[in-house]
Parts: sequence; structure tokens; C-alpha cells
Amino acid sequence: MHRKQIRLNAFDMNCVGHIQHGLWTHPRDRSASYNTLGYWQNLARIAERGLFDGIFLADIVGVYDVYKDSAAPSIIDAVQIPVNDPLLLVPAMAAVTRHVGFGVTCNLTYEQPYLLARRMSTLDHLTNGRIGWNIVTGYLDSAARGMGRAAQPDHDDRYDVADEYLELAYKLWEGSWEDDAVLRDKDNRVYARPEKIHRIRHHGRHYQLDAIHLSEPSPQRTPVLYQAGASTRGRRFAATHAECIFVNAANKPLVTSIVADIRAQAAAQGRDPADILMFAGRTVVVGRTHAEAEAKFRDYQAHASAEGGLAHFSSSIGVDLSRYELDEPIRHDKNNANNSALEAITSRSKEPWTVRRIINEMGLGGRQKPFVGSAEEVADDMIAWVEETGIDGFNLSRTVTPECLEDFVELVVPILQERGVYKRDYAEGTLREKLFGPGRARLAASHPAARQRRQGRDQAVAGVLADAVT
Ligand SMILES: Cc1cc2nc3c(=O)[nH]c(=O)nc-3n(C[C@H](O)[C@H](O)[C@H](O)COP(=O)(O)O)c2cc1C
Repeated sequence: MHRKQIRLNAFDMNCVGHIQHGLWTHPRDRSASYNTLGYWQNLARIAERGLFDGIFLADIVGVYDVYKDSAAPSIIDAVQIPVNDPLLLVPAMAAVTRHVGFGVTCNLTYEQPYLLARRMSTLDHLTNGRIGWNIVTGYLDSAARGMGRAAQPDHDDRYDVADEYLELAYKLWEGSWEDDAVLRDKDNRVYARPEKIHRIRHHGRHYQLDAIHLSEPSPQRTPVLYQAGASTRGRRFAATHAECIFVNAANKPLVTSIVADIRAQAAAQGRDPADILMFAGRTVVVGRTHAEAEAKFRDYQAHASAEGGLAHFSSSIGVDLSRYELDEPIRHDKNNANNSALEAITSRSKEPWTVRRIINEMGLGGRQKPFVGSAEEVADDMIAWVEETGIDGFNLSRTVTPECLEDFVELVVPILQERGVYKRDYAEGTLREKLFGPGRARLAASHPAARQRRQGRDQAVAGVLADAVT
């Protein structure tokens, strides 16, 4: 019987402390080398050895300063600060790999589509079609202040802006250059044909543009689109645009309901639900035996930082947890940070959460409690999650790095392969083809990006060619 294949991303960030905090102090941890090329190239090689579908890079463009009303706790524990640009890592990692994809987080709130679209196209060229974009709008007022604004836009408004942003990006990626615009004809001295390149004129509520896309067509044109917002508005946005969705919910029933809801919304919009892959966040501590894994976990735990975890979580939910007594229930005061994360511990939770419960649940200084077990136990747990919730795979957070990824590749991947749920080789083609099958280098016809394509439309619509650059 053919079993559903599990998809895997290595979840990381161009910084020292990502999800599990304090572990940079472990003697074997190398995350303080995050500012060297060799560190990232090594990581990319390990991920490709383990046939990972992608390296998924998070990003923020502010600092976590809600806890104790100060950035100091984050700075002391290196909680996503310092943080370097994630996109610039991609060419270095792509140069030493052939297959692994790159899902890179870029916040659209502070950058015009015209420039971001070119950067993505450039990386799609340089990686030969292995680039993906994790679309985020941010959740930090500190980022807004860095960009000269008093505060970030309201939660739901950010998604409205993002809808228009994507419409415009699709026009640039899909509609500006026709497939046969580039000739590279040396004999006739014609690199590209102006009549096949179209000026995009966009006059929207939030963006104005009158230009052609600056890059020639890349293998995938539109990068593979990732998204991670799980609020009501966030899910609607995901159902419209996303191809890969990152779900971070604590238990199977919640994940099951999010997966079903987003797939149903996508279907209602005319998209094939199979065109959306869902990834659950996961942290794993694995050993050759259960006892070895437990011992490793205790060793890691001795280096974890609950203070760092609270600094991170306070900014995520927009609530200063230092203002709460250890056993005081956390209230749901609506704000502009990560609404779904706050709802999960207040209005959507049967029992209200307290700071003590958050610390107890942390495990390794982060809000994602690790699964600790032998390779068989880890594999069985992952398979159960896929079978019971409808997810397609996992974004694996790092603990002590890079040994956590090495351990996973060495111990868990062979078991997943034996169980028939994990590939033994990469498929050829772009990231989108690897994820969705041969012939799928470009977005499906039912995706809103496809509406911006020129092919077949210029012939039908008289006058459109007036847009051509002649
Ligand atoms: C698993 C996960 C990963 C995320 N990664 C990032 C990130 O790297 N950068 C960022 O600015 N926001 C990130 N977000 C935040 C979301 O993009 C979104 O802004 C946030 O979840 C609030 O939207 P929501 O209320 O619709 O969930 C992430 C969210 C989740 C659940």
C-alpha cells in the first residue's frame, strides 16, 4: 500500500537563539557561528543528506521588548537578537546543494513589492527554482518604530494590505514577461523582445506602480508561497494564497480543525485542497534508545533559559508576562501581535494558562515542548500526527545545533524510510515540482496568480498589447 509521504523542513533563523532559548550555551552548540558562511553551508549539506524538502528560515525585523518593557532580557539571552538577513544566506547554501529548497520569511509591511519581487526572482534564478517565500506582515511594534512608524498596522488591516501586495507581485512575476520574451539571439543581436514584455499598471488602495518587472522569467516565476497565520483572517488569507502552511498548535484536535478549515476554505475558492501542504511545528530530541534520548534531554535542559522563553513569548502575544503572578490566569486583551497564539492560551483554552504552566510546558526554553524518544518512537509519533490530523509534514525546530539535525538525519530518516513514509531520493525539478509533482514548476491554474498570466490573453483581448514596451 502506498503511504502518504511525510514532508520535512529544517526550521531555522539567521540568529543565535531561535525557538528553544539558552541552548547556545551548550558546549556542543554552534549557533554563535550563525554569522559565517561555513555554518550555513554545513547545515544545508546535512539537510540535503537527509532529503529534507526545505530549509525554512524565520525572520523578524524588530526586537522582543514587551517582557519587562525592555529589550534587555532578549539581548542577554540572544533571543532572536542579533538577527541577520535570511535571504542573503540562500546563494551560499544553494551553491553546495542541488535539491533542498529554501522557504524564506520576508515581511511585506516595510518593503515595496517592486523590489521584493526582483529579489525573489533573482534567488529563483540562482537556485534554479528552489526558492519559497514565507509571507508575513510582522507582529512587532518595535519593527514599526524602526521603520519610522509609531506602531504596526492593525491585525486584520495587515492582511488586506497583503492581499493587494500579492496581487501586484503576481502581476510582476506572472504577467510582465511572456514565456518567449527572451531570445538571447546573438546572430540578430536581440536579447529580449520588447513586444513580449508588458508594463504593469497598478493603482490600488495601498500601492501604485507603473513599471515592468526587472528580472527575466525564472524557473518558478512566483516563488513557492508559505504562510503561518492561523487567526480567522489569517486562515482566509492562507486559503487564498498559500501553497505550504505552517501550523503551530499544541494538540491534534486543534491542528485537525485548522487543517480541515483551511482546506475547506481553499476548495470553496475553487482551489484543489491537495495544492496546499500543511506543516506542523515540531521539536525532537532523539537517541538510539529512549533512555539515551531522556539523558540527552536532561543535558540540554540544564542549558535552557526560561527567562529567554518568556521574553520571546511576551512579544509574540503582545502581553508582558512579567506583570503576572506565577499562578494568575492570563487574560485575553486583544492587541495587534500574534492573535492566534494569544487566543490559544486564553479564549480557546479550556483552562486558562498561567506563567507557571507556560514555564512547565517549555521543556527547553521555548514554547514548543520537545518530543523525547528513540528513533522508532519519534517516527511513530510523526506518522500518527500525519495520519490523524491530515497534515503533510513538519517544520523541525533546532535545539543544540547542528547535532540535532545530524541526529535526526542519522537516526529517524532511515526509520521513516523503512516505514514507507519518506522518500529515498529527491525528485528532479523545481521546489514546486518536488512538492507537487512533475510539470508543476508554476502555480496551478486555479491559483489567483494564474489570473495575471498573459499567455493566451493578449491574442484575445485587443488593446492589451498597448502595454508592451516598444
Ligand atoms: C509557526 C509560525 C511561524 C511564524 N514565523 C514568523 C516569522 O518568521 N516572522 C514573522 O514576522 N511572523 C511569523 N509568524 C507570525 C505570522 O506570520 C502572523 O503574523 C501571526 O501568526 C499573526 O497572525 P495570526 O493572528 O493570523 O495568526 C509565524 C507564525 C507561526 C504560527
